[in-house]
Amino acid sequence: MCGIVGYVGYRNAQDVLLGGLSRLEYRGYDSAGIAVKARSMGTSSTQITVSKKAGKLAVLAQELENSPLTGCIGIGHTRWATHGLPNDANAHPHATEDGRLVIIHNGIIENYLSLKEGLLARGHVFRSETDSEVLAHLIEETYRGNLELAVREALRQVRGAYGIVVTHADHNQIVAARTVSPLVMGIGEGEMFLGSDVPALLPYTRNMIFLHDGDMAVLSQDGYRITNLEGVEQTREVTLIDWDAEAAEKGGFDTFMLKEIYEQPTALTNTLMGRLHDETGEVVLDIALEPAGFERIHIVACGTAYYAALVGEYLIEQLARVPVEVDVASEYRYREPLVDDKTLVIVVSQSGETIDTLEALREAKKSGAKTLGVINAKGSSMTREVDDVLYIHAGPEIGVASTKAYTAMVSAMLLLALWLGRARGTLNAKMGAELLHGVRELPRLVEESLQPERVAHIKKVAEKYKDSRDYLFLGRGVNAPTALEGALKLKEISYIHAEGYASGEMKHGPIALIDSNLPVVVVATESRLLEKTVSAIQEVKARSGKVIALVTDGDSMASRHADDVISVPRAHEMVSPIVNVVALQLLAYFTATALERDVDKPRNLAKSVTVE
Ligand code: F6R
Repeated sequence: MCGIVGYVGYRNAQDVLLGGLSRLEYRGYDSAGIAVKARSMGTSSTQITVSKKAGKLAVLAQELENSPLTGCIGIGHTRWATHGLPNDANAHPHATEDGRLVIIHNGIIENYLSLKEGLLARGHVFRSETDSEVLAHLIEETYRGNLELAVREALRQVRGAYGIVVTHADHNQIVAARTVSPLVMGIGEGEMFLGSDVPALLPYTRNMIFLHDGDMAVLSQDGYRITNLEGVEQTREVTLIDWDAEAAEKGGFDTFMLKEIYEQPTALTNTLMGRLHDETGEVVLDIALEPAGFERIHIVACGTAYYAALVGEYLIEQLARVPVEVDVASEYRYREPLVDDKTLVIVVSQSGETIDTLEALREAKKSGAKTLGVINAKGSSMTREVDDVLYIHAGPEIGVASTKAYTAMVSAMLLLALWLGRARGTLNAKMGAELLHGVRELPRLVEESLQPERVAHIKKVAEKYKDSRDYLFLGRGVNAPTALEGALKLKEISYIHAEGYASGEMKHGPIALIDSNLPVVVVATESRLLEKTVSAIQEVKARSGKVIALVTDGDSMASRHADDVISVPRAHEMVSPIVNVVALQLLAYFTATALERDVDKPRNLAKSVTVE
């Protein structure tokens, strides 16, 4: 939700800011803006110039091509609108009336209305409808020559979530602070960077500091200083990021989403790497969790991560025989779940910053639960608050629609289920060995699913049905969540209404939707319940529905009744959700591109939802 970049150094700040924002646009693309100033000499001050535009970053980039800003200190922002329309005036940065102090903000200032009333009464003039603009005026009021002190004093009056960066005409420094909204600091030589997320800074440095809640940082060309809101100096560890800069670029693909779909074999290899012990056949997880130290598991997540959690529920209950409950985080945190010190609460998140999941985690901790994070982003807020982390190692995911993080999350859940099953003695050696073999095969099977002829066929099917108004997705057992995820992918990037259902549920309601215009995607790969799935296909056909069957290579059961068939490589049933979903990701992708949608930036969405 909103991307932030800050720079102070010797380079052309405009280039650094635009480059950084282009790698953060997944966080919001309602408007973009930058503010740049030259270094001032001695006590003189230099003017700050602001350029901002409604719409995607490309609109601002065009504007800057005609009227570039010069200077080597700057801040930049890409917005996901919360307060006020996505127009030029509401775009960040926001400046004071005299333009000497400029801010960018990610988050929500909850008490902005009362603060704004006070500021208006004291004569401040507002140019936008945003909550963020109050920050500029508040800091202006507290400013008496020291920017750091002014920011600290102003923030004491503020309630809510913020990642904020401030620049001032009289100072060669930028001042940042965060509460809830993430901020990462990049350390260079003779230059310093700030960003909402690691990819923004990767081309310049891999030495990063993840600021903690309540941290303030002052950055200048000579270095940085971190304090808390009371002004007490804080020491923060420098993390060496092992992602390379290319990982955050499109690398020849048309979109990040397509690139990330194709990165899945590598991402899966990284998820599994070092965790499957060849000699003993054991799963080795670098976590300190005591596998027999709890009686129940709650898994909490949002969106795609929630569907990965649903697969996790199935796998853990099957293999480790522990009762598992799964909930969407926004419900979990308010429903007073029954949690105690015998409960393991697992949070699943790509970003590690989703506010609903983070708050659910905090609620669970208050009740004494043990906590584990299944997380992609290193150094993110959740990784610092859980007792243990199982990293999924998917690498940076920039496309707003999650793909490689989903398959990596499901693989991590599979590893966890195997590890728990072994440790708790519920998984027999034969089943364990079979499954381990299935897991080991995963990167190869996903690679095979991406063979050009398979992809070309899915593209044809997508184009055939692209003008449908609705879609239904059905799946069963461990693949019921595959249907939910397939429907989510399609609706979020193509804007076609899609519903996902457990196929046994179809006759309890959704069957009423079926007519000759409704494509029904049925996950009908090999499983012990395949015959029942075939019955569901026949029920759809009996009502003239159009069946797109997702089947295992060589299938002769489900394909017989389908209008269109998508074949996927044969996989062990328990690992099949990972192989199957790849075809559904491609179906959604090619439907969206056939409809000329912007798949990396679907309307109204943003990655990393840090507002409630
Ligand atoms: C959908 C999607 C979202 C996220 C959700 C949780 O494609 O990406 O539904 O899965 O916002 O995000 P994380 O995993 O970062 O907590």
